[in-house]
Amino acid sequence: MLNQRIPGITFLPCLFEHTYFISFFKNVFMRSKKQSLIAVLMATFIFFIQCSKILEKPVVDDLSDHNKKNPFNEHKKSLVSDGKDIFRFDTFGDEDFWSGLLHIDKAIAGANHGGFGPGISPKTALAVGLKVDADALPPEVIAAIRSGAINLDDPATTIALLKLNAVLGVKGNFSSEGNLQSIGITCASCHSTVDNSFAPGIGKRLDGWPNRDLNVGTIISLTDNAQPIANLLHVDEPTLRNVLSLWGPGKFAAVLFMDGKAFRPDNKIAANLIPAAFGLRGIDLATYTGWGSIKYWNSFVGNLEMHGKGNFFDPRLNDPAKYPIAVENHFYNVMNTPDLITPKLDALRAYQHSIDAPKPPAGSFDKFAALRGRRIFFTKAKCDNCHASPLYADNKLHTAAEIGIDDFEAMRSPTGKYRTTPLGGLFAREKGGFYHDGRFATLLDVVNHYDRHNRLNLSRKEKADLVEYLKSL
Ligand code: HEC
Ligand code: HEC
Repeated sequence: MLNQRIPGITFLPCLFEHTYFISFFKNVFMRSKKQSLIAVLMATFIFFIQCSKILEKPVVDDLSDHNKKNPFNEHKKSLVSDGKDIFRFDTFGDEDFWSGLLHIDKAIAGANHGGFGPGISPKTALAVGLKVDADALPPEVIAAIRSGAINLDDPATTIALLKLNAVLGVKGNFSSEGNLQSIGITCASCHSTVDNSFAPGIGKRLDGWPNRDLNVGTIISLTDNAQPIANLLHVDEPTLRNVLSLWGPGKFAAVLFMDGKAFRPDNKIAANLIPAAFGLRGIDLATYTGWGSIKYWNSFVGNLEMHGKGNFFDPRLNDPAKYPIAVENHFYNVMNTPDLITPKLDALRAYQHSIDAPKPPAGSFDKFAALRGRRIFFTKAKCDNCHASPLYADNKLHTAAEIGIDDFEAMRSPTGKYRTTPLGGLFAREKGGFYHDGRFATLLDVVNHYDRHNRLNLSRKEKADLVEYLKSL
């Protein structure tokens, strides 16, 4: 994963050297045809040696054995592994919000275990999209789940899973007597899933894959103390609960807590799909509307959405017309001592940048059609005007008119525009649809949209080929 090479870039100096060698040997040996032939052969030979060396040369992120002793790589390696732990397990102290204020720990435990309500059984947890890390389960637990000896309808089992640190993105804190005291959430809750290799919702972790099953709205709705959030948004509790119920799986409304806009102008619910947190190395602007760098956004989310305890400063949010909720609550200038977020941002970014977009499984697309589609992508359909290789993105912002959609979400961002989404690993985020709010259910819908908007005149077959290419990315 970390051994990625960039032939496209390394090839350039290689070509340059090739030309250089040829002209050098031409000058020296141009006396006879035979000699020039030898010269060309030698040049070609040197060219291949040089090029194969250059193509072998790893990029900075390479952590192969060969480079392990390099102190720079050692540092980088430890940053990446620290970042992985933070991404998976660090709550930044957000327990005060999720447990202290919302009492989600008590909702999970249920009345029989010191909480309230029926509690959350593993079956219910899986049904709202929470995922279980099979590698965190000891063999006897695996065997007991297989044999049915473990009751998946009992909230006590959920508490046991939390104790094993097996629920992705939900961190339980336990007293020395083993009682659940609080829970907090981590980045992994939304930005990772599992491969379902053990059972649906239970398997090996897939960090960076968006959890398009997770129903964040339903989970927040478990609270018995919704009033403070309703107050924050200046609505009554039933209105808040209605909004939360409308987000749906795989979606979250981050900007709602800044501008208070729960609905789009067409009266549909405003919520964005959880995006991929893979394939972002080289992407300068994070989020669908380019709020800022990945480091900026990680801090934004850690402080303002997860309600971790850090420092965050963004004067753009101090705009009462655009972000009334943020202004009232001083979200533009958050200070906590100690700052549990800022010192972790470099490691968090290093980890995210180490996650490449996954490759689609063999057989999930038609190879020949994809090859034909590739040509259409780069020529007739002009997709690479924005989704330029190798990132399938241009690091640029585009107006709503350019991409042929409404500007509601763009105008809620300080940028007023949409950022080109990198297209690697599209197959890993097809659930929930495409574009920021999932407005296009399928890749064919996306292609039809561009065909209409940009008057591409694609035939039915060309569209189908283009879709196969998108599936191959
Ligand atoms: C409650 C679910 C949730 C949690 C928890 C969460 N995110 Fe996100 N994340 C989202 C959503 C939704 C977006 C899309 C925001 C937008 O553009 O409106 C997003 C966007 C992002 C992006 C931008 C991706 C891109 O394409 O540019 C990054 C990076 C990211 N999150 C990282 C993190 C990190 C790191 C954490 C933990 C500190 C985290 N997120 C926690 C839901 C979540
Ligand atoms: C003018 C720049 C531009 C051009 C040209 C363009 N795109 Fe896009 N593309 C974008 C932007 C910006 C987004 C993000 C839109 C959003 O999230 O609302 C996007 C989003 C997408 C998505 C959705 C990704 C996701 O995960 O939601 C797909 C798929 C896509 N484009 C494919 C294509 C194809 C295929 C073409 C050529 C027919 C193309 N694009 C041409 C700018 C462009």
